Amino acid sequence: MTATSPAEVDWDALRARAREVAERAYAPYSGVRVGAAALVDDGRVVVGCNVENASIGLTTCAENGVASALAASGGGRIVALAVVAGDGEYLAPCGRCRQVLSEFADPDVMVIDTGSGTVTLGELLPGAFGPADLAARRDA
Ligand code: THU
Repeated sequence: MTATSPAEVDWDALRARAREVAERAYAPYSGVRVGAAALVDDGRVVVGCNVENASIGLTTCAENGVASALAASGGGRIVALAVVAGDGEYLAPCGRCRQVLSEFADPDVMVIDTGSGTVTLGELLPGAFGPADLAARRDA
């Protein structure tokens, strides 16, 4: 698959979806609401927000919501992503989320809005561990 051209993505629309879903985040502990919107290779957009928990470590990030929504709505590969905090501005995906996203995207294809340009997932998570590593390193 060829790299997604950032110019082909309607970033205003994707950011708008991320801002909208950030409004619905459940973040009473950190006070940091997060919304994520992903463009899928079939053209649909899936969204997610962070959902915190009193047992703090059980919090799920907005990008986890995207991964669930992606699978639940038919799967596919993510080609573009916008992540924003409650103030509407870009929030960097955490390390765990970069790994979660890498399960559903080609690192050279998926582009992520940084608020002042774009980066590929591969730039955010170089040398990612993936399914091929599992297959290659499993005990015989
Ligand atoms: N958070 C996300 O939803 N995505 C990220 O990539 C970084 C952090 C959430 C988790 C937590 O609810 C809050 O932001 C503060 O860390």
